[in-house]
Amino acid sequence: MSAINWTFVLDDTSLGEGRMAPVYPLGVNVVLARVSGAVYALSGACAHMGCPIFMGRLEGHTISCPCHDWRFDVRTGKFIDAPELGLRVYPVKSEAGKLFVNLG
Ligand code: FES
Repeated sequence: MSAINWTFVLDDTSLGEGRMAPVYPLGVNVVLARVSGAVYALSGACAHMGCPIFMGRLEGHTISCPCHDWRFDVRTGKFIDAPELGLRVYPVKSEAGKLFVNLG
């Protein structure tokens, strides 16, 4: 992971607790989620058929896809019913009130 790959995505205060937001750093489809104060960044397209994850439900650390209800752990990106599948997870950091994602 290179330090030059940190890309600004959103003001930290724009992402409320228990909320998700779609962002597109460098054109990449990413969903942000905040749970218990921590911010997570995952691939924004479902691992099943590519539906937009941000339109799903966030309950605790579980994201449910809006299309066919596949559920993913927001911390690891793993599909809960078959952990060998999942969403890519990206590192996130907050600096000076801004959120940055590292695309690697
Ligand atoms: S596209 Fe997400 S569960 Fe089918």
